[in-house]
Amino acid sequence: MANSMPDNAIAFSRFAFMILVCIRGLISGQIRYSIPEEMEIGAIVGNIAEDLRLNVPQLSDRKFRLTSDDGGQYIKVNLDNGILTVRERIDRELLCGQATMCTIPFEIILENPLAVYRGEVEILDVNDNSPTFRDSSITLQMSEAITLGVHFPLESAEDPDIGINTVAAYTISSNEYFSVKAQKTEYGVLNCELLLEKPLDRELQPDIQLVLQATDGGIPQRSGTAQILITVVDVNDNPPVFDHKVYKSSLREDALKGSLVLIVKANDLDEGLNAEITYSFSKLASPRVLELFNLDPQKGEIRVEGHLDYEETNSYSLNVQAVDHGSPAMTGHSKVLIKINDVNDNAPEVKVTSVASKILENAPPGTLISLLNVFDRDSGENGQFHCDIPKNIPFRLRKSSNNHYELITSEPLDREAVTEYKIHLVARDLGSPSLTTNKTIEVVISDVNDNAPQFGASSYNIYVMENNSPGSSIFAVTARDRDMDQNSYVSYSFLENLIQDFPVSSYLSINSMNGTIYALHSFDYEELKNFQIHVQARDAGVPPLSCSCTVNVIILDQNDNVPVIVSPSSESGSAAVQILPQSAGQGYLVTKIMATDADSGQNARLSYHMVKATHPSLFNVGPKSGEIRTARNILASDTTTQSLFILVKDNGQPSLSSTVTLYITVLENITENVTEAGNLMSNSEYFTNLNIFLIIIFGCTSILFLLIIILLISVKCKQNSSTSQGYNSSSCCRDSNCTLHRRSAMEATLRYPGTGRTVRMADAQHYSVCLSPESAKSDFLFLKPCSAPPFDAQC
Ligand SMILES: *[C@@H]1O[C@H](CO)[C@@H](O)[C@H](O)[C@H]1NC(C)=O
Repeated sequence: MANSMPDNAIAFSRFAFMILVCIRGLISGQIRYSIPEEMEIGAIVGNIAEDLRLNVPQLSDRKFRLTSDDGGQYIKVNLDNGILTVRERIDRELLCGQATMCTIPFEIILENPLAVYRGEVEILDVNDNSPTFRDSSITLQMSEAITLGVHFPLESAEDPDIGINTVAAYTISSNEYFSVKAQKTEYGVLNCELLLEKPLDRELQPDIQLVLQATDGGIPQRSGTAQILITVVDVNDNPPVFDHKVYKSSLREDALKGSLVLIVKANDLDEGLNAEITYSFSKLASPRVLELFNLDPQKGEIRVEGHLDYEETNSYSLNVQAVDHGSPAMTGHSKVLIKINDVNDNAPEVKVTSVASKILENAPPGTLISLLNVFDRDSGENGQFHCDIPKNIPFRLRKSSNNHYELITSEPLDREAVTEYKIHLVARDLGSPSLTTNKTIEVVISDVNDNAPQFGASSYNIYVMENNSPGSSIFAVTARDRDMDQNSYVSYSFLENLIQDFPVSSYLSINSMNGTIYALHSFDYEELKNFQIHVQARDAGVPPLSCSCTVNVIILDQNDNVPVIVSPSSESGSAAVQILPQSAGQGYLVTKIMATDADSGQNARLSYHMVKATHPSLFNVGPKSGEIRTARNILASDTTTQSLFILVKDNGQPSLSSTVTLYITVLENITENVTEAGNLMSNSEYFTNLNIFLIIIFGCTSILFLLIIILLISVKCKQNSSTSQGYNSSSCCRDSNCTLHRRSAMEATLRYPGTGRTVRMADAQHYSVCLSPESAKSDFLFLKPCSAPPFDAQC
């Protein structure tokens, strides 16, 4: 509007100039008017009558008329005053388009005289049109990758006006990316272009809306606008980007196949294919990782694929990548750290690194049996463990270092009690639930010669019938040894001592293998009634252990001696003559038969029997006393010489007997004196015989008794002396160490290792046997200890 004043001035000066021209044109026969377009109807164009110097009143007479080829409709002439007026709205643009000169030619025709005037009305442009765009909205697509300074030609705005009234300038709504540039073409059209001032970024602003305005130069100024919508086309200029630089997750090692570990997610700022992402493990991933884990290419889910093992690897570092589908594709990277949590899936392992399969029973406590290596592949509590063996066995576990254990003995062993141990070792870890491993260690206890053989009893009485057959077995002793094999092989022997000045070996022998005792010769009870031997049992261990027992050999009497008739003495074994007075009455003692028997007991108990007699009724024989008495008075009829056959037999089984024949002569004339004398004589004779016999018997008995006393004293002395040598003993003892030292004759004391106990041999082993007084009166021999009983010696 500021310029409108000068513009108006120019327009008026022009108008004045035209009028000047019109006047000149009149001179040359042409008349010309200029009017702006769009004048209102009836507006005066000009006074043509005046301009043609026509006489107005004459106009109608001269048939004044205006003709026009095509402009007749726009203008008309008033016949009354000759004024040309606008008949109809005149649109220059309609009439002439874009032509710079727009005229409406007309002719004025007059008659009387005919005169033709040519003229024209020039239509001047008025800014009555605004610039317009054919499309009110313009859509453009631009790659975000286009470079700065690129021009985008736009469709020009149209303005039918001409000259300054047509499009003169373009402007664009304010924005940071584009400016607009206008350029006049050689045809005078103002072209318009967009110029990129700043790089596009679809990710920042995917579309841009602009308003393009075209303005003309008219007064008043007019303008038109168009919307420009620029869509920024994506270019794959953004790589996928993961949510996290590092993803972290933890997982139990027993996670099942298909368990979700975590989800990786990447975003791509681009769009479309450029933003479509495929996930994968990095190409550098190890084959093991690919076995264990699976990455869903679309969802980004990492799942367990294989069997995890904490003990193999306790963490994994996976490189993942996200690739978009753009071309060229872009890749984003991230890292996934997966920590594997231990699960108690490993039981402790027990390795026996060394084992002594056999151990001597005398191994001291603390002897190493076995070395064990125990470990658990789990970690933490799951990898800690306890090792135990049962409490009630003589073994214990000792921890030597971290995972090493020693199985040692904790108490003395005894093979005789337990020969073999199966030690159940339990290793239990501290996980929950805990896992256990069982191991059995077999330990065989090997024998040591620590047990002496033992007899069933400390002494035995054996009874041997005299007259036994030489070489026959009379007894067998057996000793048992609790050890095994060689340590238990027992051999038997006699301990040397004298029996009636002869060594034992001259009486007996012993089978060293099985302890059977043989008599070497026939015993005679009448010579030797009993004796004592000591049998030793010794094992074959190194060193050997031994034990002894006492065997009392008692000879039993056998009826092997016939009664010996001592009186009446009978020469040639047959007859003895006795004299009997006829006057002798009933019960008269004729004689007494005396007999002895060397046997003893019943074998020596004699009885007297009359086997045969001349007059059996005449005499009685006292079966016990051996007295022969008359049974009745002697009659004259009785034969003077009577014979009696007397049998003396002992009570043995079978009994033995002797006989004697008595001849008894009955004398009539013998007086009482004679008889008495005879009796006396016979008595004295008898007495003499008897006396001699009795004296002999008494003497013998006395000597025998003296001998026995001497023998006993000497035996006693011997005993004392041999006791001091620690030899004459019938002892054995339970203690395994007892008899070891028996052979060392000079050692007077026994040591009991480990017990600190010592026993004086003299105290302990005083034992002897002597005949009890009863044995003289009895058929049997009674044995009794002479002094205090020996120490408690029971085999
Ligand atoms: C001991 O051995 C001998 C010879 O082999 C045999 O005759 C005897 O019967 C055995 N005695 C025992 C008790 O076995």
